[in-house]
Amino acid sequence: MLEVDAVIARRLQSDVALINQIAGYIVHAGGKRMRPKLVLLFANALGFEGAQRFELAAVVEFIHTATLLHDDVVDESSLRRGKQTANALFGNAASVLVGDFLYSRAFQMMVSANRMRVLEVLAEATNIIAEGEVLQLMNMHDPDISVESYLRVIRFKTAKLFEASARLGAVLADSSPEIEEACAGYGRAMGTAFQLIDDVLDYEGDSHALGKNVGDDLREGKTTLPLLIAMERGTEEQRLLIRHAIEHGELERLSEIVEIVRATGALEATRDAARAEAQLAKDCLQLLPANMWRESLLEFAAQSVDRSF
Ligand code: IPE
Ligand code: IPE
Ligand code: MG
Ligand code: MG
Repeated sequence: MLEVDAVIARRLQSDVALINQIAGYIVHAGGKRMRPKLVLLFANALGFEGAQRFELAAVVEFIHTATLLHDDVVDESSLRRGKQTANALFGNAASVLVGDFLYSRAFQMMVSANRMRVLEVLAEATNIIAEGEVLQLMNMHDPDISVESYLRVIRFKTAKLFEASARLGAVLADSSPEIEEACAGYGRAMGTAFQLIDDVLDYEGDSHALGKNVGDDLREGKTTLPLLIAMERGTEEQRLLIRHAIEHGELERLSEIVEIVRATGALEATRDAARAEAQLAKDCLQLLPANMWRESLLEFAAQSVDRSF
């Protein structure tokens, strides 16, 4: 990961001062670097030790960072990685444009890998992420979306990049199609688990630990799984309260809604769904050679559920 950070620092360079300032600001604010870790763990698990893995790990982190810059503008968020968001500090226009810089820099870097399959995987992933964000926009303030529709959004906006990251490890190692699909399956399931927990933490997390504001999902009128389950299980009065809050993006009665979500067991049920996805992810690893990297991937899947930030 130190190698990856060195690539990130080198490739972030631009002659345009504001790009260095904003891109440097968000990249150096930290972040868990989960997607690059997936690239490295899968490449290592499958025996690929070339330096190209560091470059591609940096590519997926750049794509992730670009989506965060855009996402915080769209979500009007003010806190990310424990700091003011770039949009809050530098404005929406600068955030969107520097996000574009990071996307296109990522594409410059992946072309230099000189492998068509790498381009295919990442071109598809970025396109699906964009579709996921637009689908979610269409679902905003709609309390009647189905669980299926919710799951589709999180598979697109979040799980797809985890899937691509895992798959790239297999592509680098020239793995068989079966192995590549197993790696992709792990990334998809783990990424789904990860976003399910993100949606739990938006109700019961601690803003300080999380480095993001809690309650943002409700303010944005996002119908996430905790709310879907709470509406299904709650009384008529509770259901109407939640519907109203989603439709109007109201936070005034957030504490009551958090209480309903908790009392109906909706948070625990969402955690259970995440645990089931994490188990699916672990099952995908059976096809991989038994080594310490595979062990780390087992642990990594568990961590995506047992986390507070
Ligand atoms: C945030 O991702 C966006 C989601 C998919 C929930 P991370 O939680 O991986 O963000 P950082 O990189 O660690 O800040
Ligand atoms: C995360 O979206 C997915 C992308 C950035 C594409 P969210 O809006 O759910 O994540 P946070 O809570 O802002 O990190
Ligand atoms: Mg957001
Ligand atoms: Mg969002």
